[in-house]
Amino acid sequence: MTLDVAAIRADFPILAREQDGRRLVYLDSASSSQKPRSVMCAMDDLMERSYANVHRGVYAIAEETTARFESARRNVARFLGARDAAEIVFTRNATEAINLVAYSWARANLHAADVIVLTEMEHHANVVPWLMLAEERGVELRWIPLTDDYRLDLTDLDALLAGGALLAVTAMSNVLGTVNDIPPLVAAARAVGAHVLVDASQAVPHLPVDVQAWDADFVAVTGHKMLGPSGIGALWARRELLEEMPPFLGGGEMIRDVRKDGFSTNDVPWKFEAGTPAITEAVGWSAAIDYLDALGMDAVHAHEVALTRYALDALGDRFGDRLAVYGPADTRQRGGVISFLFPEIHAHDVSQVLDEEAVCVRAGHHCAKPLMRILGVPATTRASLYVYNDTDDVDALVDALAKAEQFFAF
Ligand SMILES: Cc1ncc(COP(=O)(O)O)c(C=O)c1O
Repeated sequence: MTLDVAAIRADFPILAREQDGRRLVYLDSASSSQKPRSVMCAMDDLMERSYANVHRGVYAIAEETTARFESARRNVARFLGARDAAEIVFTRNATEAINLVAYSWARANLHAADVIVLTEMEHHANVVPWLMLAEERGVELRWIPLTDDYRLDLTDLDALLAGGALLAVTAMSNVLGTVNDIPPLVAAARAVGAHVLVDASQAVPHLPVDVQAWDADFVAVTGHKMLGPSGIGALWARRELLEEMPPFLGGGEMIRDVRKDGFSTNDVPWKFEAGTPAITEAVGWSAAIDYLDALGMDAVHAHEVALTRYALDALGDRFGDRLAVYGPADTRQRGGVISFLFPEIHAHDVSQVLDEEAVCVRAGHHCAKPLMRILGVPATTRASLYVYNDTDDVDALVDALAKAEQFFAF
């Protein structure tokens, strides 16, 4: 293991919690990660020592808070490899970042018969905004299908992209764990003049990501899946695009001037940040980034690859064909999100038995109903791994699953 998991666990107060005398085994980080003490301390420190609104007051604590908020933006920009902090628009989460693109860029640029290309493994956050646009504008949606080993089937990519205006693709599936190779997809989209939006909600917490190397136009990220608080995320976009795009929400902060007969907009990124932002959460997210930086994203990724291999082998050894596992078998093509199903047992029933063993997993459609329909199942159970998990957690999962299988045996 490349990470000192015992030391990491000691940084996460909730992991010391017991449930009915059992150690808490948290395997639901793809839904939302736990938070280290340093994140809580950064947020407390801001509120205890210098909290005020940002970009408004000219008194000391207001200026300090503004400095810490803008420093958080620079930290997010650096972590993502952005050219400039102005390319980081703070949003509530990745969903809002994608909606920002849909409401601002897409409604200004796309019209009936324009084509948006999605993939069959997208989260609803990267599906519903485009379905809404399809209903409103009559844009056409096309879908990149999946291979039998749960990867994108790129056989007909050029035909799917022909005439395309936007490719919207996830960097890592929140159901299958599949990691998509973004640069060739961007190159193919660029070749037909399409823009590219990457949903990096599951990738940024787990892999080194460099938005300039991806060379996409828009990248959506969310803080709460990467050790930060909920309520904060970001849209990275190329500065020229942000400058051309009309504002999304109207109100304070996003304006330069307002008259009775009109308004002019603020510079980017504030043009897209109407109203008081999530100040404390931005500072907490920045502390989470510092925590991940100290671990090193290469080490985080290597840890998860090794643990995913261990988990896939352990599940295969214990249950064989009795447990269907949905996702690539090759850990070079996937992250630590593992979806599975005993064909005879409902995913929710399994997760309830797991809860009795203090093993926290997610059961359901994982906000990916088009994918569930393709898999032909209403739900799966999903275990997801992060920096504070180790082989003991995987063993606890496997043992708890064996109990569930026995409990529901016919
Ligand atoms: C792939 C993917 N995209 C988007 C989202 C939405 O993230 P948020 O709820 O933080 O907006 C999620 C959350 O589960 C996700 O897994």
